[in-house]
Amino acid sequence: WSWNGEAMTPKVIVDCDPGHDDAIAIMLAGRLTEVLGITTVSGNAPLNLTTENALIVTELLNLDVAVHAGADRPLLVAPRHAAEAHGQTGLDGPVRPEITLEVASNDAVAFIIETVRNNDDVWLVPIGPLTNIALAVRQAPDIVDRVAGVSIMGGSAGAGNVTATAEFNLWADPHAASIVFDAGFKKLLMAGLNLTHQFGIDEQLISDLRALRNRAGTFAADLFDFYLASYQKRTHGQRAPLHDPCAILAVTHPGLFRFESRNVRVETEGTHTRGMTVVDERGWGEGPLNCEVEYSIDRDQGMRILLETVSAYT
Ligand code: RIB
Ligand code: CA
Repeated sequence: WSWNGEAMTPKVIVDCDPGHDDAIAIMLAGRLTEVLGITTVSGNAPLNLTTENALIVTELLNLDVAVHAGADRPLLVAPRHAAEAHGQTGLDGPVRPEITLEVASNDAVAFIIETVRNNDDVWLVPIGPLTNIALAVRQAPDIVDRVAGVSIMGGSAGAGNVTATAEFNLWADPHAASIVFDAGFKKLLMAGLNLTHQFGIDEQLISDLRALRNRAGTFAADLFDFYLASYQKRTHGQRAPLHDPCAILAVTHPGLFRFESRNVRVETEGTHTRGMTVVDERGWGEGPLNCEVEYSIDRDQGMRILLETVSAYT
C-alpha cells in the first residue's frame, strides 16, 4: 500500500501528552497540516500538566488552535507518568513561560466526536496514551469509518522502552490501545519504537535549531538540551529518539517511510508483556491486516523538513 509520495496537508486532531517530543510534533502540525484542535491526555505527566504544556506550546507558536483536556487516567490501570524522561513539569528545560490562553473545554472526547462528524477526511494523530481515542470510539463507533485514518506514535515492531516488550503510550493504557487497534480503522499507521529510534536528535540538530534565531527554534533547542541529556544519562544511546513527530510526518510526507501491512494486536494481560504490540511477521497469519507498520524513515530528509518547518515560524 503506498501513496504517490508527494506531501499532503491533511486536517488533523493532535491528541497528545506534552512531553518534549509532543511539543515538536505540534510545531510540525502547526505548519504542515490544518490542525482542527489539540486534545490532551494523562501520560508523560498528569493531565493538568500535559494540558498546561499544550497551552504553552500553542501560545508560544501563536497557533490559533483550541486545546481540549481529556482523560485524566487510563480506562482501567493506574495512571503512570514519565518524569524521568520529561521532568516533573513534563516539559522541563526551557524557562516556563506565563500562559494567558485558557483550555477550550474539558471534554476532549466530545470534541473529537463532533469534529469528525462535522468534517470529512480528518486524521486522528494520537501521540500519547490512547485513552481519549478509545473513549471516542466506544461512544461513537460511526467515527471509525468517517476518519481518513489514525496515525499513532506507539508500540513497537521490536523492543519496548518501559519494559522489554512494551512502549510507554500503549503500556500506560493497554486496554485503550487494544480497543483502537481492534476498531477496524481503514488506515492505522504505527510509528513504533523500531521506527522512532531511527529518527534521533543530536547536538548538530540542536545547534542548527539555535541558528534559526527564532523563538520556535530556540524553544525546540532548549527542549532538546534537556531531552538529550536526560536520555543519555539513562541509556548508552548517543542520539535521543524523536518519537512523536514521526506520527505527523507519516501523514504529511509518507514518502519518507517504508510501510508494511501487518496484523497487530495489543496484549492487555501479560505478566511480562502488558501493552506489547504483537506484530504478526509470519505473512500467512489469520488476523486482518489492520495496521500499516513503519519500518524505516529517511532520517536526513525528515530532519531537513523539521528544520525548514521550524524556521517558518516568525
Ligand atoms: O514511548 C514514547 C512515547 O511516550 C512518546 O509519545 C513520548 O512523548 C511518550 O508519550
Ligand atoms: Ca507523547
